[in-house]
Amino acid sequence: MTSDPEGEPMLAICTVKDTQGNPIAGVTIDIWETDSSGHYDVQHADRTAPSERCVMVSDEQGRFWFKGIKPVSYPIPHDGPVGKLLQLLNRHCWRPAHVHFMFGKEGWDRLIT
Ligand SMILES: [Fe+2]
Repeated sequence: MTSDPEGEPMLAICTVKDTQGNPIAGVTIDIWETDSSGHYDVQHADRTAPSERCVMVSDEQGRFWFKGIKPVSYPIPHDGPVGKLLQLLNRHCWRPAHVHFMFGKEGWDRLIT
């Protein structure tokens, strides 16, 4: 799902399971992450095609896999009211490195993590 030559390659092999550990087939999974500079594709004014994102569907064993880049941490905007709030709370503006997943299947609650 990546076109970033600077990112450290990452292979993610995943399984979707219910709370009893049973695999769930046919789950649509939207996946997105930043590039190696810590920016999402929509934050680049010169990008016309999506990158660092994909949509997968789990197989009969609940499995899906994708190639991306190892996530990097990035700062949230902190030059306005959010920055003032963070300063008052003595908190920094950096989010930990992460990948976003949104799981969807008819009859199930949507899960975004
Ligand atoms: Fe994020």
